[in-house]
Amino acid sequence: MTEKLAGQEESSAILVRRESQRLREHFQKLYGQEARIFRAPGRVNLIGEHTDYNEGFVMPVAMDLYTWVAAAPREDARVRVYSQNLRERAEMDLQDLNLRLQRHWSAYVLGVATSLRLAGAEIGGANLLVEGKVPMGAGLSSSASVEVAAGYALLESSGLSRSPVELAKICQRAENEFAGARCGIMDQMIACCGRANYALMLDCRTLGFRLLPLFSDAQFVVCNTMVKHDHAAGEYNARRADCETATRILAEQMPEVRALRDVPLADLERYAKLLPEVAYRRSRHVISENARVLAACGALEHGDPESFGRLMRESHRSLKEDYEVSSTELDLLVEIAGGIAGVYGSRMTGGGFGGCTISLVRSGAVDEFQTAVASGYQRATGRKPDIYIVRASDGVREVLE
Ligand code: GLA
Repeated sequence: MTEKLAGQEESSAILVRRESQRLREHFQKLYGQEARIFRAPGRVNLIGEHTDYNEGFVMPVAMDLYTWVAAAPREDARVRVYSQNLRERAEMDLQDLNLRLQRHWSAYVLGVATSLRLAGAEIGGANLLVEGKVPMGAGLSSSASVEVAAGYALLESSGLSRSPVELAKICQRAENEFAGARCGIMDQMIACCGRANYALMLDCRTLGFRLLPLFSDAQFVVCNTMVKHDHAAGEYNARRADCETATRILAEQMPEVRALRDVPLADLERYAKLLPEVAYRRSRHVISENARVLAACGALEHGDPESFGRLMRESHRSLKEDYEVSSTELDLLVEIAGGIAGVYGSRMTGGGFGGCTISLVRSGAVDEFQTAVASGYQRATGRKPDIYIVRASDGVREVLE
């Protein structure tokens, strides 16, 4: 380890200790109890967008931005939660599992408590303090990190455990049923199964995955448009419906088709006339994106950032033109990045309609990249983009410091 790296590790251990100490003290003031501390990461997806709910492939990385949860058991069957971000409380009785769909922050925590019970995990009452450090509405999956951190904390506080894959499914169910977003499984899987220094190559049909080391001489860099994807849930659900329409029509011709994952591009072209034009384009994105993830996996394994970057550029074009989930600001960031020396490729990441781009940049060019993107974007929009160099991190854990 170089001296600089050793210094970084040390300062981050100090920061972790300081943060968990602060939470313990705050928790003591709120509830008069000693807390255990947990945290789950946000994520960035390297490639494979809108493929998860089509039973396809994705390649996310857990980022070093976390939702922190302090927790302690209660004697009764109530779950009480305080959100430090919103300075609001919410609570529920675990005997009453009739939580109705509510588009409220507490759905991400109380929905998970309900979902755990519905999955047969006999969790007991608990006090929770939640503090999210993953920017909200930025496409970095703040919601899954809240769900997974809360779910893990609730299990641990009751002396229970579930496998990472089971916890991911329980949290996805909570988001689908109680928060009203029909999200796929990618975000919860990476928040549960992420590993420091690795990307996760995930098959969303089998939930089998492989850990792939990142490039040694190129870095992934995330740029935030600073435009939130606030009203994206309706559009997201509409995209899912388009994919379901296409799958239904294609399955009439090819009975073995269960999801767009099963359709080769040549067959999509053969039956194109049977599909509404929009459903055809949505399918073309999903099918070609799955192929790009598989190719990107090879590029990562062979240490070939040039090919990976080309696949990222193709992914963006497909998301913009066929899937129609990009935005003016995302396109602008991708365009600016494309003109900077040392950039292999750039694309929007996450659900879209705002949020972030991800770029693959030669290691020696990262500083210049940051300066050039920030000034180009600010000049064009008046907004200063937040920029994060991706440090692949671990999935949900208890913080013992
Ligand atoms: C959101 C969803 C994920 C996935 C992405 C798009 O982040 O939560 O399940 O569908 O959008 O790839």
